This record gives sequence, C-alpha cells and structure tokens, in this order.
Amino acid sequence: MEQNFKRTLVTAALPYANGGVHIGHLAGVYVPADIYVRYLRLRKRDVLFICGSDEHGVPVTIRARKENCTPQQVVDRYHKLIKESFEGFGISFDAYGRTTSETHRQTASDFFRTLYDKGEFVEKESEQYYDEEAHTFLADRYITGECPHCHSEGAYGDQCEKCGTALSPTELINPKSAVSGAKPVLRKTRHWYLPLDKHQQWLEPWITEQHKEWRSNVMGQCKSWFDMGLQPRAVSRDLDWGIPVPVEGADGKVLYVWFDAPIGYISNTKELLPNDWEKWWKDKDTRLIHFIGKDNIVFHCIVFPAMLKAEGSYILPDNVPANEFLNLEDNKISTSRNWAVWLDEYLLDFPGKQDVLRYVLTANAPETKDNNFTWRDFQARNNNELVAVYGNFVNRALQLTKKYYGGRVPEQGELTDYDLQTIEEFKGVKAEVERLIEGFRFRDAQKEAMNLARIGNKYLADSEPWKVVKTDPKRVETVLNLSLQLVANLATAFEPFLPFSSARLREMLQLPEVQWERLGSTDLLPAGHQLGEPALLFEKIEDETVQAQLDKLEATKKANEAANYKAEPIAETIPFDVFEKMDLRVGTVLSCEKVKKSKKLLKFEIADGLENRVIVSGIAQHYEPEQLVGKQVCFVANLAPRTINGIESQGMILSAVNFDESLSVMTVDRPVVPGSRVG
Ligand code: 2FM
Ligand code: ZN
Repeated sequence: MEQNFKRTLVTAALPYANGGVHIGHLAGVYVPADIYVRYLRLRKRDVLFICGSDEHGVPVTIRARKENCTPQQVVDRYHKLIKESFEGFGISFDAYGRTTSETHRQTASDFFRTLYDKGEFVEKESEQYYDEEAHTFLADRYITGECPHCHSEGAYGDQCEKCGTALSPTELINPKSAVSGAKPVLRKTRHWYLPLDKHQQWLEPWITEQHKEWRSNVMGQCKSWFDMGLQPRAVSRDLDWGIPVPVEGADGKVLYVWFDAPIGYISNTKELLPNDWEKWWKDKDTRLIHFIGKDNIVFHCIVFPAMLKAEGSYILPDNVPANEFLNLEDNKISTSRNWAVWLDEYLLDFPGKQDVLRYVLTANAPETKDNNFTWRDFQARNNNELVAVYGNFVNRALQLTKKYYGGRVPEQGELTDYDLQTIEEFKGVKAEVERLIEGFRFRDAQKEAMNLARIGNKYLADSEPWKVVKTDPKRVETVLNLSLQLVANLATAFEPFLPFSSARLREMLQLPEVQWERLGSTDLLPAGHQLGEPALLFEKIEDETVQAQLDKLEATKKANEAANYKAEPIAETIPFDVFEKMDLRVGTVLSCEKVKKSKKLLKFEIADGLENRVIVSGIAQHYEPEQLVGKQVCFVANLAPRTINGIESQGMILSAVNFDESLSVMTVDRPVVPGSRVG
C-alpha cells in the first residue's frame, strides 16, 4: 500500500508538558511509532518523524498554581524531562519541538485566521461558569462538586473519576471553583466553533468507506461519534495561558489546546525544514500516519481532519493506528495518583536496559485491547526470552567460534538437508516481519523476529557442534557458519525493535552496516571475517530488583490512601466530668518483652512515679520490644486491672491507629517525670 507514496510523514501524539512520560505513553505511542519509522528508514523510504511537547491547556495552569510557579516554568521543566526521556529510549524523532515556540504561535494563529476569514467557524454565545472572586471563567476541570450519578464529592466539571461518567459542569451538584473555592455563577461568553455537524457529510464516508483498513478500535469509536451525530466544537477558551485568538475583540481568549496541539505537528515540521515543509503536508504523494493513544482518536480522526479540510491545502491522514491503554499491576496508570513507571526513573534504575522495556512493552502491546504491565512479567520476559532465547543463542554461537576458530567466521562448506531446511525456515522471516510491521502489528512482528533466535537455538542443540568437533570438524565449520549468519540476521531483524542491542551485537560481529534488504541471507558474514569480542547481550534480572520496584509501587499506594483518608466521624459527646474521671499519665518503659505463646502481646514494666506497674498491650506486630525501652508513653492509669494470658495488666498504653491500621505509640514531645498527668 505504502509503495504508492513517495514519502511518509509519521507523527506521534504530542505529550502534555505537565508531567513526565511513563510506560503507558511508551507502549501506546512512541515505541510503535519508533519501530515503524526505523523500519521505513531501513527500507530506505523517505520518512519524517515528528513530535514535540503539548504545552498549553488547563492541566499546565493547574500544576503551575499547585507548584506556585508560572505555566512557562512548568512546561520548560517538563519539556526538557520528556525530551531527555525519549532520547534515553532511542525514540528517533527527526524533530521534537514545543507549542510555546514562536513558529508554532505564528502557524497556529495563521491557521485560525485562515479558517476565520473563510467563514469556517460559527460564532456563538453560551453560558459558562465564572468565578467572581478570582475574576476568571472556569475551565471544566476547575469546577468540582458532587457527582449527579454516584453522589461522590470531588467530581470534576468534565468527569467523575469515581464512577467514570463524563459530565458537563452544569450537571454538578453544589459546584465549587477549584481556584478560589467560591460558588461559580453562570455568565455569558462568546466562542468560535468548528461546525463538525456540517463536516460529518464527508467525514463519515471518508472514514467508513475509504478507510476500511483502519483498526477496529479506531473505526468503532469513529462510528459511534457519527451515530450520535457530530456537534459543533468550541475552538477557543477564556483562559490566560495559550495562543491568543487572533481576532479583534477577543481579549482574554485563547485557542483551545486541542485546536493548537495538532497544528504543532505542522509547526514542528516547519521548524525543521523551513523551506521544504510543505511537500510533507500538502503533496498528495505524502502519506500521513498519526500514532496516538485511544483517548486521542476523536481529535485525530475527526477534529483535525475537519480543520485540515476546512483550511483546504493540506493532505489528510492515511492511517491512525491508535493503541488501547496499558495498565500497571492491574490498575489504571495515573499521573495524578503517581501510579506509573516513569521513564526517567526507569533509566536511572535500569541503566543500559532500555531495550528490555522496549521489548516487554512491544511483546505486551495494547494493540487490540487494554493490556497489563507487571514487574513479574517484565522479569520473566527478560530472563526467559531475551536472556534464555536470544542472548543464549548469540552467546553460544560467538563463544564456540572464538574457541574453535579464534573468532574467525569459518567456511560454509557443504550443506545438509537439515541445514537447507533451517535456512528455508528463517528466510521467510523477512517477508513476515515486513507484512506485520506494515500492518501496524508490531507485537506479532517482534515475535517473528524472535523466532530467528528460536530457530538458532534449535539448530545448535540439534547439531551439537561441541560433540561433533571431535569426529567431523568440517561439519562444525558449517554449523557455526550458519549459526553466525543467523546471529547477523537477528541483529538486522531486531534493528527496528531493539536498536541498542542490535548496535551492540553488530559491534560484536564487527558488522558496521545494516542491510535490511539482505535479511534472510546466509552470507551476511563472509568466511574469514574476524569477529569482535563476545559479551553478554542481556543480563538476568534478579528477584530483589523486581521486589524493589514493587515496594516502590506499594509505597505509592500507601501515600495515596493516606492522602485520601477521611477521618472517622466523632463519637457521641460526653460531659466534662466523665472525661475528668479518666486518669491519663506518662510513664517510662523500664522493660518490654514478648509474651510467650502470643503473637500480639507485649509485657511492659512502666515507671509511673509510684510503685511502677505492669501493662500488657497488643502491639507486638507493630514494634520490636527493644524499640520501646526507655520511651515515655501515655497510659490510662485508673483502668480496672485485667488478666491477659495469665498476666495482670494494670492499665492501657495509648496508641494512634493510622489509616492503614498500623499503630504509633503516643509519646511526649519533651521529657517529663514519670507519673506526670496528661490533661
Ligand atoms: O493526550 C495528550 O497527551 C495530548 N497532549 C495529545 C496531543 S496530540 C496532538 F494533537 F498534538
Ligand atoms: Zn460519579
């Protein structure tokens, strides 16, 4: 299909610069896009890979407010972090720009102005929430209140995160401004709308009839939008962060972030190729492919094409291979809840292991349905596939060649039927990988590449060169020659998927050039060629390493629970004299030991300023006895004695019960004499 085009322009969704990027981003968009682009380059196609940071929008302003800095400072910080994370994973963009650049402001302004001048917008007045204390219109996310469906508090004006229902701000019960806490009022405001209802006429047949090849998840979403009937969409907002609407009398209004963001693909191309960008965007011989996540489908399949068509001089996307979502340890990845594996942290925790994550995310790619990332699966795929299959084959072939031939590629010699059969098997891999990548089926494509290693392992195991070497040295030459050809094929086939490992492997093979067109050949390495020093291509990942990551997630879970903790309602009121009856004291722990035959109990001897006392307390699962000796603790001194496990307990030590049921013994802020009253 793509052969009919002269060039391919690949875009990857511009990530919001209000936070870092995580494995969900990588799996959903950037790794598949990178595989595709690397592959096209290997096929010597004319290709351009464009991305950049999406720096406008309300989330940026929310973060700025939270962190007490300016929106520009927020995006400067995250743009740098995101760019470096992508570089770290070898995502090979030709351009990575930003939507706060001057080129972008100009391009987006001009785009809006062209549509405005052509009469492509509808101007409408509507009522929107306004914060009279902060003197600002409120974006949907800035309004919180009670969800009309599940009645939980803290639902946002666009969505209730508890029950997932999409909302409009006026549906919220008791709405509140997140800016000032004031009750917002409805105020009239004017905005420009893209009349998608008019565009449906051509959009619907264009997608449903002319692009039947689009993924079913993409097609499904588009059809459901069409079935509901497209509605006009506002392309401006009342906000002070964004590109000013370039029309007179539009003070305080900026372009809606989803209007300017996709234009970022154009401006970033322009920045890279100021004199040559138009052929990538306006020539019918260019094929435009958008890699995105499923939450972006409507914008790339409906809104952006409508904008491009309305402008009139641009091409439309040829395909939009959107992925579903990746979950993390069975929970939805969430930036706000910090439930993610952040790429910058991974790069620090797993130096040199970028390809392991690339491999696992592709093997588990959410291409047809949501998928789950678990650290155990990460470990298993590394140890059982990369190490045990790919790395093991490479290592055996290289080590044996070093041992028997000083690292020189032996002659191929005479091939047996079994050799020919093996060659036949791996010859087919090229066409298969190509077919799958071109059909955006990266997961299966990578599996196919891995098959080369499986074929290689089987070939070595069946041929047993280490045994045959004593009886038939000529045969060993052939076996190792073919094995090395397979290794060279592996380096080539994995080039789009695992670029770091392929480069290392080529270094070991002393194979400087990648020749994709020769994938499947049995003469990638000529006889007599001197190989480099063999080294392990992949390393085993130990249980402790994975456990450390799981512990990190557990800590996040705890922190979230603590942040969301709602204290229990206060108990029934008691008169003062009832309270006064309770004699609370401070005592010093003289000794503390576990009570025999009990998991829960600790026996304390407490200095109470009188005759000292024994208290038995059920906190053994929260403290080691030695942690408490010498501490000053609060206790109820006039509680009737009780016998517990045969020991008379004279009082009760007070503890705070944390949100997760963990205990913290109540101590004093400054030393006091034993027996001091608490009150
Ligand atoms: O969903 C997102 O992260 C958006 N920032 C994607 C924008 S894609 C494009 F239109 F720029
Ligand atoms: Zn709800």
